[in-house]
Amino acid sequence: MDLHEYEAKQLFGEYGVRLVEGEIADTPDQVRLAAGRIGRKVVVKAQVKTGGRGKAGGVKVADGPEHARARAEEILGMDIKGHTVRRVLVEEASDIAEEYYFSFLLDRANRTFLSICSAQGGMEIEEVAVTDPDAVVRTPVGPEGVDRAAALEICRAAKLPEEVHDCAAATIVQLWEAAVGEDATLVEVNPLVRTADGRIIALDGKMTLDDNAAFRHPERVPFADDSDTDPRELRAVEKGLNYVKLDGEVGIIGNGAGLVMSTLDVVAYAGEEHGGVKPANFLDIGGGASAEIMADGLDIILGDPAVKSVFVNVFGGITACDAVANGIVQALELLESRGDDVSKPLVVRLDGNNAELGRRILTERAHPAVRQVDTMDGAAAQAAELAAA
Ligand SMILES: Nc1ncnc2c1ncn2[C@@H]1O[C@H](COP(=O)(O)OP(=O)(O)OP(=O)(O)O)[C@@H](O)[C@H]1O
Ligand SMILES: [Mg+2]
Repeated sequence: MDLHEYEAKQLFGEYGVRLVEGEIADTPDQVRLAAGRIGRKVVVKAQVKTGGRGKAGGVKVADGPEHARARAEEILGMDIKGHTVRRVLVEEASDIAEEYYFSFLLDRANRTFLSICSAQGGMEIEEVAVTDPDAVVRTPVGPEGVDRAAALEICRAAKLPEEVHDCAAATIVQLWEAAVGEDATLVEVNPLVRTADGRIIALDGKMTLDDNAAFRHPERVPFADDSDTDPRELRAVEKGLNYVKLDGEVGIIGNGAGLVMSTLDVVAYAGEEHGGVKPANFLDIGGGASAEIMADGLDIILGDPAVKSVFVNVFGGITACDAVANGIVQALELLESRGDDVSKPLVVRLDGNNAELGRRILTERAHPAVRQVDTMDGAAAQAAELAAA
């Protein structure tokens, strides 16, 4: 789960990382009041889970409460890369002398954490990495973690100015403790700043928590309810379905992650002949494809306006194809009885245990949206063609 800047900073604070005073607000009036309480020049910052907020105009300085209110009016409601700004962080403005970059991230390929540090932080770090790669220093983190000595080594390697090594190393150790303590796969501070009076402060914060470790952090549940997450993804999580939204047009439902993944490939391949049609999602209904699970799956997929056709690819195993076919029939009836639109074409391929019986059930029901194809490639081709029509 990705956290908002203000959430990441809240956690940073619990590990002793130095921050500036800030408050969260949803309305221009709240921003005015917050700026009044802070009582100095402030920065109003869009809270959306995407990068490049500053460049998009989502981070603005204000001279006083009224000015902050006006800034908030500009920023609230703004669209940044498809994310609507509903909240802002009002923060004391820092007197910045220098901006650095620092992050810890899980390096899956090398089965370790990696620290990335640069003396040239700020909004252009991606460009620095391209134009001056030596200025962005990557140091693997060993199994012993990051102590003060390791943090100092990172500061030296990244050529941070000598006089900040002490403070920066302390912050790096705290960020490491936050990463480990919170089971994060990413902790990023850009910029980590040196203020004119020599302090080291985390001015931005990004954190990704490992969802697989969520059970170890029951106290963090409030982070999970989030208006920024795709509502269909939330619903899928509620229903215990494995669903990932992608950006194509063919909805995919299959049983078993391996089958669904190969279905994505086959659909993408077939889609090349139809103007680059692609999978719209990944949805694995798992082993037991009951009518209810099928209805939940179809409900989520058919409700996605980007979906033009659906490919249901099932290989019957312990749950045989006749059970799946009955599930599809009942799911369509359930959705129709709720008044949902079930007119999008559904291409169904059933194979494996009791495939014949399953196909017969669907043939007899003869639902106008359903068409059956016996092979995976053939079904993918038809689903792609229907999506392109
Ligand atoms: N409290 C602050 N005081 C002064 N300047 C700030 C403050 N917060 C941010 N800034 C300035 O605004 C810039 C952008 O802010 P920030 O890093 O939070 O957003 P961003 O980098 O644009 O967003 P993202 O990291 O999501 O791409 C910073 O590099 C910094 O120069
Ligand atoms: Mg930033």
